[in-house]
Amino acid sequence: MRTTCDGHPGRQAAYGTGARRKLDKVRTDRYGLVIAANRLPVDQVTAPDGTRSWRRSPGGLVTAMDAAMRDRTGAWVGWAGDAGTAPEPFTEGDLRLVPVPLTDAEIALYYEGFSNDTLWPIYHDVIVPASFHRAWWTAYDEVNRRFADRVCEVAAPDAMVWIHDYQLQLVPKYVRAQRPDVRIGWFNHIPFPPVELFAQLPWRRDILEGLLGADFLGFQRTPDAENFVRACRRLAGLTTRGQLVRTKDPDGGRLVRAASVPISIDAAGLDALARTPAVRQRAREIRASLGNPRKVLLGIDRLDYTKGIRHRLKAYEELLRDNVIRPPDVVLVQVATPSRERVAAYRELRTEVERTVGRINGQYAAIGSAAVEYLHHTYDREEMAALYQAADVMLVTPLRDGMNLVAKEYVTCRGDEDGALVLSEFTGAYQEFAALAGRRNTAYICNPHDIEGLKGRMAEAIRADRRTRRSRMRALRAIVAEHDVQAWSRTFLAALESAPSPADAAR
Ligand code: F6P
Repeated sequence: MRTTCDGHPGRQAAYGTGARRKLDKVRTDRYGLVIAANRLPVDQVTAPDGTRSWRRSPGGLVTAMDAAMRDRTGAWVGWAGDAGTAPEPFTEGDLRLVPVPLTDAEIALYYEGFSNDTLWPIYHDVIVPASFHRAWWTAYDEVNRRFADRVCEVAAPDAMVWIHDYQLQLVPKYVRAQRPDVRIGWFNHIPFPPVELFAQLPWRRDILEGLLGADFLGFQRTPDAENFVRACRRLAGLTTRGQLVRTKDPDGGRLVRAASVPISIDAAGLDALARTPAVRQRAREIRASLGNPRKVLLGIDRLDYTKGIRHRLKAYEELLRDNVIRPPDVVLVQVATPSRERVAAYRELRTEVERTVGRINGQYAAIGSAAVEYLHHTYDREEMAALYQAADVMLVTPLRDGMNLVAKEYVTCRGDEDGALVLSEFTGAYQEFAALAGRRNTAYICNPHDIEGLKGRMAEAIRADRRTRRSRMRALRAIVAEHDVQAWSRTFLAALESAPSPADAAR
């Protein structure tokens, strides 16, 4: 989801005393809360007159951090998205942004290579084979050191440091080495693999040691945290007890806690946006431009092989072949957001998806009524909210997904308590919904590998009556409204604050 924020310089004059105090602290260049994530939460935009400025990028993470930073001054360390010299640190709203430079070679080796062609496949059940290259690892290590250096420069004494995701797994260790005074948390947005898969990594011990520099490690699902603890035991020979791992630091080691803290979305903000007349009107326009079909099916994904887009298209094609559904009665809108296009597996996926869409339309579309409307674009949050509202059935069919925020966004946009969610059991969202509302009464749960089963769930969701749709949607909406991104960041920071201290380790 894309949010925009005006961070123009004239804004300072409008601040009250409390905010001015915050800005004064900003000038000291030391921060009580430091976020480190691969990307800064801004994109550079160029106006028609050629002037360049920063705009807040999509994602609930920024909103979560806003909530976390309400009572502290915060800085965000990350890559600005281009190769070469990084811009000087700058302020966006109340947030200090500290860019980390990456060269062209580092983007290829650290980001596209080790992060997205080694770790990403291993952490997602090896849906495609992982590549192992020592030069990628060296670049990953170097870039992680650089992130750690920036964090240490801007962290105030005793600050909280919150590191995000698989791209930065060595940062906890490198920060601790320089700054034993700070509290270090790390959160993994993607799954953490079973030990049998993690063991394939030639650098598995280094990664475990990198992460164990933290005080608290947060994961999407309990099985992810358990996989991490098991890897520490089996591959690093460490002693573990429940969620705790004892490190091999001097004086008996430290205790590091690993637990699940599932991420969420800014439910209230999105709900409010989805209720605006402009978004509702746009939803009606979308349906009308599709020819007002009886049922609109929708998929919105980054174009990533983990998302199960091919499985979904196969099931849809077979439902058409079997005459269970037919255009113009039913249409599938598939939004595929461009992603990591310099990685071969992503290029191959795009070719295959586009070939399949072409085949389905060639076979089943008529003039003016496509069977699949395929959109290879990124949309802003208003358009996404309208698409969600226009969709009778949302298809979320990943083969493996840490959480899947699209599922949460869809139900949040359905203030009308209508619509049906087909949801893969291999998502963190499924685990959370199942734990909080029971398996039977919420989404239409599928195993995307089981094409017959997936077809059955899609057909069931298409045919569901209004009463069933309402009761399921109500249950899902209540979960997301209560467990929102603000609650997530509060829970994470509370867990970090109460993480075991060296004194606990001595006991
Ligand atoms: O959640 C996984 C993740 O890699 C995030 O770190 C990232 O924000 C998102 O997916 C998009 O990936 P990328 O930054 O590689 O475009």
